[in-house]
Amino acid sequence: MEAYHEPVLLTEALDLLEIEEDEIVVDCTIGEGGHSIEFAKRIGKEGFLIGIDLDEFALDRAQKRLADVGVAFKLFHGNFKDIGIFLRSIDINYVDKIFLDLGMSSFQLSGAERGFSFKVDGPLDMRMDRDSALTAAMVLNTFKEEEISWILWIFGEERFSKRIAREIVKRRKIKPIETTHELANIVLSVYPASRSRIHPATKTFQALRIFVNSELDNLKTFLEVSPAILKIGGRIAIISYHSLEDKIVKNAFKNSKMLKIISKKVVTPSRSEISINKRARSARMRIAERI
Ligand SMILES: C[S@@+](CC[C@H](N)C(=O)[O-])C[C@H]1O[C@@H](n2cnc3c(N)ncnc32)[C@H](O)[C@@H]1O
Repeated sequence: MEAYHEPVLLTEALDLLEIEEDEIVVDCTIGEGGHSIEFAKRIGKEGFLIGIDLDEFALDRAQKRLADVGVAFKLFHGNFKDIGIFLRSIDINYVDKIFLDLGMSSFQLSGAERGFSFKVDGPLDMRMDRDSALTAAMVLNTFKEEEISWILWIFGEERFSKRIAREIVKRRKIKPIETTHELANIVLSVYPASRSRIHPATKTFQALRIFVNSELDNLKTFLEVSPAILKIGGRIAIISYHSLEDKIVKNAFKNSKMLKIISKKVVTPSRSEISINKRARSARMRIAERI
């Protein structure tokens, strides 16, 4: 079995969330439980940990790890935007701490069959929740050229969105676009030579993933409902990995009448963390307190 996902900004999240014994903590993107294992150790035997994730495979891995810590916990398969519904189902109205670590786990990215990465060849799936209907292949093979171009521009800020969309539509007339490598090659074929450090297909893949999983809408809904679930003095920390998400979190915290911002400056990983874990490099964490 593959090594566990390396939790990002773990020390900073623990320090700034100020998790204490006996608390109720909700990890809304529990993944494989990298952060939650440490939350569990802090809350101890009298605390309660709730984990949510769209990915059932991730939940299985988290379940096994948390069982070893011996903490009281409950896991939910579903979307964090439904946090209120999950809590109500176990008769909890208010919690002490809420945590979100957006994006994807290493195993989701590296698993070819999930279709998230252009680095490994696999079907163009990109669904975090395997029960949902829309895949990236459906978008690429059935949406109009203007719609594909719009998705790449809005969710990937891709400068060459029109060019890429045109090429996608041209190629799919010959044969449906089915794999991550086919898509990456299409992007490469129309992309001007550049000295950029990121792969030309990075933004296209990001855009499709965000669209397929309605990531920004989920985050906005979550930010509307979650402050009311926090106890007074309770804290919420959110780690995002691209500017679209970070902007949404920053504005929601700033404009909320129920929250006070704790970290005036956004929290980013240290150089030493980035040297050990390259995936941490784009992480940005914001923390707020319920007033
Ligand atoms: C970066 S990983 C979390 C890793 C975890 N903190 C750890 O250290 O093991 C992000 C997780 O969020 C999940 N996820 C993304 N969007 C979600 C949503 N709207 N609702 C619930 N889970 C979501 C993904 O399936 C993934 O497992």
